[in-house]
Amino acid sequence: VVIPAPYWVSYPDMVLLAGGVPVVAEASLQTDFKLTPDQLEAAITPKTKWLIFNSPSNPTGAGYSHEELKALTDVLMRHPQVWVMSDDMYEHLAYDGFKFCTPAEVEPGLYDRTLTVNGVSKAYAMTGWRIGYAGGPESLIAAMRKIQSQSTSNPCTISQWAAVEALNGTQDYIPENNAVFTRRRNMVVEMLNAAEGISCPMPEGAFYVYPSIAECIGKTTTAGTVIEDDETFATALLEEHGVAVVFGAAFGLSPNFRISYATSDEALKEACTRIQTFCSGLH
Ligand SMILES: Cc1ncc(COP(=O)(O)O)c(C=O)c1O
Repeated sequence: VVIPAPYWVSYPDMVLLAGGVPVVAEASLQTDFKLTPDQLEAAITPKTKWLIFNSPSNPTGAGYSHEELKALTDVLMRHPQVWVMSDDMYEHLAYDGFKFCTPAEVEPGLYDRTLTVNGVSKAYAMTGWRIGYAGGPESLIAAMRKIQSQSTSNPCTISQWAAVEALNGTQDYIPENNAVFTRRRNMVVEMLNAAEGISCPMPEGAFYVYPSIAECIGKTTTAGTVIEDDETFATALLEEHGVAVVFGAAFGLSPNFRISYATSDEALKEACTRIQTFCSGLH
């Protein structure tokens, strides 16, 4: 199962749990954390069964344009044994006019080997209500239903009806929410890029940023900790300045860290100011 990195932390373990072998294909900062067609081609073998695709992404916020995605689906069309699981969780969280698209929409030839997964946790702020859903070929959905019904109990009725209302009701507030997210994203990206040694690309969607700390590696904090990797960076930042971030190694691409900006402007401003102070103390 090919998993582009940085990936949502759970993907490799989900693959292992299902008896598969996760094959990580690293996307780089230079391509704004998007996998290139050559990288996808190189990761595929005759044994490859799935590609896990997530755009906009957790942890980077990176979103593939129609053209960028078409280049990837062209590769998939050459490998008919490969199915694609498209995790469209951040479909509605897109900024600056970015137009969300999903693999089978860009390449209808993939429709019969596409599993689309989604949920109401993010755009409808229903994290914790435990509603996700999937669409795909009938035989696959039937097999999934069999496993699901024996391994978990059902989501509660209240959550199910709230999800129906979320999906079928007015979507008017999504642009209003996204204007707030855009403002927070811009502030966080600007403040992080102003921090010494941090380089942060501007993401297209979701509510994450994934800055590189390559220039901080090897430096020492004011408290005397040597920044060996992104994990020591995150631990020192937490212990010395009380700011919690998730280190990049957890998402399969280092040296970086992830911030979720789904929180208040005040908290984000304070956190970014402390990160700036932390970085300016590195020597
Ligand atoms: C890419 C992605 N997919 C799926 C999920 C699962 O969300 P939930 O368990 O709330 O449905 C998350 C949550 O972080 C996510 O980031």
